[in-house]
Amino acid sequence: MRIAMIGTGYVGLVSGACFSDFGHDVICVDKDARKIEALERGIMPIFEPGLDQLVERNARSERLSFTTDLAPAVAGADAIFIAVGTPSRRGDGHADLSHVFAATREIAAALQGPTVVVTKSTVPVGTGDEVERIIAEVAPGARAWVVSNPEFLREGAAIEDFKRPDRIIIGTDAEAASEIMREVYRPLYLGRSPLMVTSRRTAELIKYAANAFLATKITFINEIADLCEAVGADVSDVSRGIGLDNRIGAKFLHAGPGYGGSCFPKDTLALLKTAEDHQAPLRIVEAVVKVNDARKRAMGRKVIRALGDDARGKTVALLGLTFKPNTDDMRDAPSISIVQALQDAGAAVRAYDPEGMEQARPLMADVQFCDSPYEAAKDADAVVLVTEWDVLRALDLPRLARTMVQPIFIDLRNIYPPQDVTAAGLRWHGVGRGTPLAAA
Ligand SMILES: NC(=O)c1ccc[n+]([C@@H]2O[C@H](COP(=O)([O-])OP(=O)(O)OC[C@H]3O[C@@H](n4cnc5c(N)ncnc54)[C@H](O)[C@@H]3O)[C@@H](O)[C@H]2O)c1
Repeated sequence: MRIAMIGTGYVGLVSGACFSDFGHDVICVDKDARKIEALERGIMPIFEPGLDQLVERNARSERLSFTTDLAPAVAGADAIFIAVGTPSRRGDGHADLSHVFAATREIAAALQGPTVVVTKSTVPVGTGDEVERIIAEVAPGARAWVVSNPEFLREGAAIEDFKRPDRIIIGTDAEAASEIMREVYRPLYLGRSPLMVTSRRTAELIKYAANAFLATKITFINEIADLCEAVGADVSDVSRGIGLDNRIGAKFLHAGPGYGGSCFPKDTLALLKTAEDHQAPLRIVEAVVKVNDARKRAMGRKVIRALGDDARGKTVALLGLTFKPNTDDMRDAPSISIVQALQDAGAAVRAYDPEGMEQARPLMADVQFCDSPYEAAKDADAVVLVTEWDVLRALDLPRLARTMVQPIFIDLRNIYPPQDVTAAGLRWHGVGRGTPLAAA
């Protein structure tokens, strides 16, 4: 099949490269000429494990190519995927659909022959109807079916997730469109990934409901962690104790500094806006958003409290800045709020991240970026482990302790056994395991 992928970001590039790996002919389009130029030279615009080899292999076999020129890519395609960004709209939290609609107009103007136009971007219920309307307006008589096909990949494990998804959701009522989508995904469902066909609106909502549920699970365990601190219980054991129940499941039950990233924060907000517009309030999700926002700020206060409630003139080293390991994505990362809270309290901040520092730099003024965790910890009053990168899971703790001014170690991911930290001569603080959280 010939596939055009419009938008070559985290989702478009991974999806395009994986589709080409299945044997389809894929052309990835982006309006960012620098991105396309870099890709043509084999340079990845994002960090995602395994992506460079996947792209290189498929580009070499001429199944994967890159362009800024949308019209010819669309004209020859059997399926056109829209994978452009849908960030929060400034001011009101609705999903900003301007990129989706702009791409739709360009696609409509270039359409030839019967085609499916697939929204892979996360878009609110009813967006497919509007995409259909725009196509009918710009290209009356064009034969195009508009399908919803939300993406569930996780950054950091994106290739594996795309190739072995838990499910593939196809939203369409048109049999012909459903046939084309089955053909696109055939290598996957033959490999036993369930393919579910439903209405377009239902598919659009499935994506938001999934993200809101996962955000709720994280937020639930984070609040339980606060209660654990208050009553002297251990949230790691509570997580294990409830996660072993198959009805609950162990995933997304790790207490930490609150969810961030390019999806949960904006998607929970956009879902609330949809609910508000339809007078069907989602009070649980409302609470999740509020609790998570407060938590990110509370993490800064937790550090200040560990510093004896006085951060002025002190130096804090943050280890890990990205919202999770194995990505360079800094969108809505909890580290941003923590840095802000520390600087507001008068602390100097040093930081180390294996892949995220370039993206972090414009988001964090006056932070000193360091080449290693040990350089960051040098002369620091506290070290805060924010993101659980593999290289930060086996730190030489005695070495850290020797270079610090005060031996305060705050593990916001509960990676290190407290006794190991203490044995290294550091004062340990974790999340939900005995040290009180700074009062809100
Ligand atoms: N990042 C994730 O983990 C993830 C997972 C599932 C779903 N999603 C959803 O997928 C969508 C894309 O997310 P992303 O993280 O890949 O975004 P991104 O910002 O990394 O990439 C979007 C790309 O689209 C390009 N673009 C915008 N308008 C264009 C146009 N008219 N023509 C051509 N290119 C255009 C931009 O230049 C950019 O490179 C969003 O709706 C997001 O919610 C993201």
